[in-house]
Amino acid sequence: MAATRRLTHSVAVITLNNPPVNALSYSLRRSIIKEFVDASKDSSVEAIVLCGANGKFCAGADIKEFGSTSVDSVSLNHINDTIESCKKPVVAAIEGVALGGGLELALSCHYRVANVQSLVGLPEVLIGMIPAAGGTQRLPRLIGIPAALDMIVRGRHVPATEALQLGILDEVVKTNTIDAAVQMAMKVLGQPLENRRLGTLPVQAIPNVDTFLDTAVKRAKGQFRGAQAPLACIEAVKATLHLPFLKGVENERVLTASLWSTGQPQAQQYAFFSEREVGKWTTPSGGKWDKVPPKPIQTAAVIGLGTMGRGIVTSLSKANIPVIAIEQDAKQLDQGRQAVNALLDREVEKLKLQGKTSVPGNGLGSVKFTVDLGDLHSVDLIIEAVYENMQLKKEIFRKLSSIAKPDAFLCTNTSGLNVDEIASVTNRPQQVIGTHFFSPANIMRLLEVVRGQKTSLTTIATAMSLGKTLGKVAVLVGNCPLFVGNRMLGPYLEQVNYLLEEGSYPEEIDQALEEFGFAMGPCRMMDLAGLDVGWRSRMEQGLTGTNAPPGAPVRQRNGKRYSPLADLLCESGRFGQKTGKGWYQYEKAGGRIAKPDPWVRDFLDKYRRTHQIARHQANSQEIQDRCMFALINEGFRVLEDSIASGPEDIDVIYNNGYGFPKHRGGPMYYAANVGLPKVLSTLENYSKANPDVPSMKPAFLLRKLAAVGGPPIKEWRTQLGNTSSKL
Ligand code: NAI
Repeated sequence: MAATRRLTHSVAVITLNNPPVNALSYSLRRSIIKEFVDASKDSSVEAIVLCGANGKFCAGADIKEFGSTSVDSVSLNHINDTIESCKKPVVAAIEGVALGGGLELALSCHYRVANVQSLVGLPEVLIGMIPAAGGTQRLPRLIGIPAALDMIVRGRHVPATEALQLGILDEVVKTNTIDAAVQMAMKVLGQPLENRRLGTLPVQAIPNVDTFLDTAVKRAKGQFRGAQAPLACIEAVKATLHLPFLKGVENERVLTASLWSTGQPQAQQYAFFSEREVGKWTTPSGGKWDKVPPKPIQTAAVIGLGTMGRGIVTSLSKANIPVIAIEQDAKQLDQGRQAVNALLDREVEKLKLQGKTSVPGNGLGSVKFTVDLGDLHSVDLIIEAVYENMQLKKEIFRKLSSIAKPDAFLCTNTSGLNVDEIASVTNRPQQVIGTHFFSPANIMRLLEVVRGQKTSLTTIATAMSLGKTLGKVAVLVGNCPLFVGNRMLGPYLEQVNYLLEEGSYPEEIDQALEEFGFAMGPCRMMDLAGLDVGWRSRMEQGLTGTNAPPGAPVRQRNGKRYSPLADLLCESGRFGQKTGKGWYQYEKAGGRIAKPDPWVRDFLDKYRRTHQIARHQANSQEIQDRCMFALINEGFRVLEDSIASGPEDIDVIYNNGYGFPKHRGGPMYYAANVGLPKVLSTLENYSKANPDVPSMKPAFLLRKLAAVGGPPIKEWRTQLGNTSSKL
């Protein structure tokens, strides 16, 4: 874990060496400064090249050291200032990545040469922070405020070719990056360095800069909904206009401290680490991620090329896995083919930007389209993504039993059906597993991997590993109706319906939850997903429609409160976006611009009059509390039932699959933050007043944790162990 130095001609090449990504740990920083100072003093050295070992320049701060301090630490700011003020030319040779502190280090060098496949960026915002080693001061001075803001506020990883156009890089090469950097260093010997020291340069003026920055703030507030880091990034960049460099860097420090006091960086870092933790899966029977090797998946197939299937095919192909894509007939196959090809074309465009098109086949796995299930005889893994219908799924799995090779894995993308029931019709239930992708499957990062009773550990390991190969965050969950994410959504949406019945309008509920930070309010989300999906399921369950119990009170089922509002909307043909009308009205069927609909207000007002419901207009806080606490309470039940193995699993699911604001850590982290005694007492009060809403009855585990004062979230697993063994 050190930097090493060698001499090439008269150029000292200092190599950062801290595998796997040359993160800037204390000891690496100490070592960099030592080698650098020695090189700058060495009279045989005329120039210096900084590079990283193992084809990676530097991925930034060492996350293992987050939250800890060291007395003998050398700050990155000190290193950067030393490099920038060096009298000998310093060239960064960027391979792989220069991210966060890695790019800040490169920006302090006088020149930057990069490999065409490398990525640069300042992604600190993604963990609730700002670049605070001069990044917000040097980058705008190099590429101007608009381009720098775009990169810093979004935390975007920029491909080398784009970075060259932006002016971040001086040269992009296909091979021998370090040699090219050495040549660059030799070439610039003797040239003045003044205009290469970014910290000394003025930022380029742009017209109407104040308006530009105000707009950026407005946009960030709308887009990041309550997250403070993007706003702090804008504030930091803005300082380049009126503060000298060193004061600007000092301002970075002040902004970082004030961000820290909001609790958001801690929440986002918890979310970040949780994503790593969920990869270390365990099962209630003692199975463990590091004890079971996955089977390699060299070929795959997807059955059904609808909304989900086409995204799954794209995802597999993107990971360079050849796929067989199956539909039920030629017409559907043709539609599926067109959709997949359009998605793959977009991937090729992205690869072009990353300079990766020289790989044969662009690094995409081939896709073969067919209507013949018989073609699946030799694939390693098959993912079924046909309609959500148990009989159809069973029919397909029965056929797969005889067609697929004996060691092939059979996966279902069901969003909530019983995986054990599907597995039961096969000749290999141990190789059947749920792989629940989220829509759009080529983009959404979440994959719920659903283990059935008989699913083998090898099958679990293989599905989890496939998730990683596809660039997803895979979370292992147990098999229960609707698994984790959708199950928790039930009580949340139930509260939404009750709020609507009681006097809130869809746009008020959405606004409250979007202010909380959700990417999309629940009414818009239901409209997007299609209100008819739930309606059909309620009809199948005999809750509404012709199968409903005759004479049942309209607002009650099986002694529990029931809201028929969504059924009534569907009965009048309002299925959401697809029909142009749902909780909102849209510009056309399939339209996306939601507008409050006077019809809906009228409908709700009439409904209340019919059922003699006195109007109660809940304020934002009540809307947020009722919806959030309903969600959290079900989360505790999911933990009690061992459906998720820890609160981190639930939080990762919500952050990555349901638009939960990461700056709040996830629903369970949020609960811990609010204080479990408060969550409990709010639920208790609601429950006492509404005994016919059992979903709001506080969960046993919540009571238990609240009784011991609401311990920090990292201690919940231990308590959970005690609980599960008693259940
Ligand atoms: P979809 O209705 O868009 O597509 C289903 C496709 O399956 C259709 O193209 C249909 O032609 C095809 N299909 C039907 N029978 C077939 C057969 N015998 N052989 C080959 N293909 C056949 O449905 P969607 O939305 O893609 O859902 C698929 C599965 O994914 C369902 O189980 C659903 O619950 C689940 N899911 C859906 C999500 C969504 O947001 N739409 C999210 C997560 C899971």
